Amino acid sequence: MTNPFPRDFLWGVATAGHQVEGNNVNSDTWFLEHLPGTIFAEPSGDAVDHYHHYREDIALIAGLGFTSYRFSIEWARVEPEEGHISVAELDHYKRVLETCLEHGLIPVVTFHHFTSPRWLLQLGGWESDSTPELFARYCDRVMAHLGHLIGVACTLNEPNLPWLLESFGIGGEAPENRGTVPMWAAAAERLGVDARTVAPFQFCSTEEGFQVKVAAHRAATAAIKAHRPDLLVGWTLANSDIQSLPGGEGIADQVRRDVNERFLEASRGDDFVGIQTYGRTVYGPDGHAPAPEGVPVNQMGEEIYPQALEATIREAHRIARIPVIVTENGLATEDDTQRLAYLETAVDGVASCLADGIDVRGYIAWTAFDNFEWIFGYRPKFGLIAVDRTTQERTPKESARWLGNRARQEDKVTATNPA
Ligand code: BGC
Repeated sequence: MTNPFPRDFLWGVATAGHQVEGNNVNSDTWFLEHLPGTIFAEPSGDAVDHYHHYREDIALIAGLGFTSYRFSIEWARVEPEEGHISVAELDHYKRVLETCLEHGLIPVVTFHHFTSPRWLLQLGGWESDSTPELFARYCDRVMAHLGHLIGVACTLNEPNLPWLLESFGIGGEAPENRGTVPMWAAAAERLGVDARTVAPFQFCSTEEGFQVKVAAHRAATAAIKAHRPDLLVGWTLANSDIQSLPGGEGIADQVRRDVNERFLEASRGDDFVGIQTYGRTVYGPDGHAPAPEGVPVNQMGEEIYPQALEATIREAHRIARIPVIVTENGLATEDDTQRLAYLETAVDGVASCLADGIDVRGYIAWTAFDNFEWIFGYRPKFGLIAVDRTTQERTPKESARWLGNRARQEDKVTATNPA
């Protein structure tokens, strides 16, 4: 078979600032983690101190054979108070980008990966009409300082996630109920705002939230393109393979519409859409169905189902009709042989999409390091590289070597056999 991977295919691993950097103290998420009644299992703290260890981390990723590194720039660091831009923090990200380029890694940069500055929450967060403009202004400042170094730009990470989480019963509080939920009520009290207006990015699934996110993505795209018309810009979506059991078709159709289809439709006209798939989500007559008895599950108790990636790439291609980059895909497990097998099936799925002529530009695994898995804390292990958080020592797992070698081989094959 002709090798389907194009020469400039991105083989990478991803991280997100808040999950790895540590001490993102001006962010809304840090604030939520420390509230009474918080739904976070533990605070992020020092994370894996990537903020200080980025040089060795990037060298390690490149040394494993990868050609790309996806990471995020933290709005809360760059603009810790509204309108105050920290040039020192922009310079930090400049060094991170330069280090990627020195090591031959194409930097895929996410401008917003779930976390926002705490002050944005005070101003109505992701349900406020003023947010798109504030976000675009931040993107403009980042581009003015760093734009020439960026390889691919992702505006918002998983703007559709709250609708998927809501179908599992997480977050999704209607504005009128927020005051009755301890974390929301405590946030409102500390911020001195009405609980109905507390709208963090990951947890609000209202119609206003949808409109604000689409507007923010468009405004950010324009701000980024104003500096670099040539730069590939898109957003990245949480694309579960939505399926149903008999009697669950109606619910599945509704979730597929709310979570996948309308966001893929809104992606039309972008340079690419980032696909982030972890498995399938199955709905029965009573809603989200648990994993069937006896099937292997991940650390969150969900079925291990790597075939989902191929299905969601095909769905994205059919609906958005633009190039696709797999910007996240991975498995939470303590058993790295399970992860390796998962990655193998997932990458085969990408190869089959490419062989069918679907324009997939990259495969970026989630995640480089075991890290802060949001409300679940540090228990889930998604990393291809283990980290001892007392010494901050990094140890690549077999899965990291396997995927890095795959990247190396494909690079070689495509260089000698451009077909
Ligand atoms: C997010 C990551 C997260 C991963 C695993 C995605 O929802 O973009 O930040 O850690 O999935 O749950």
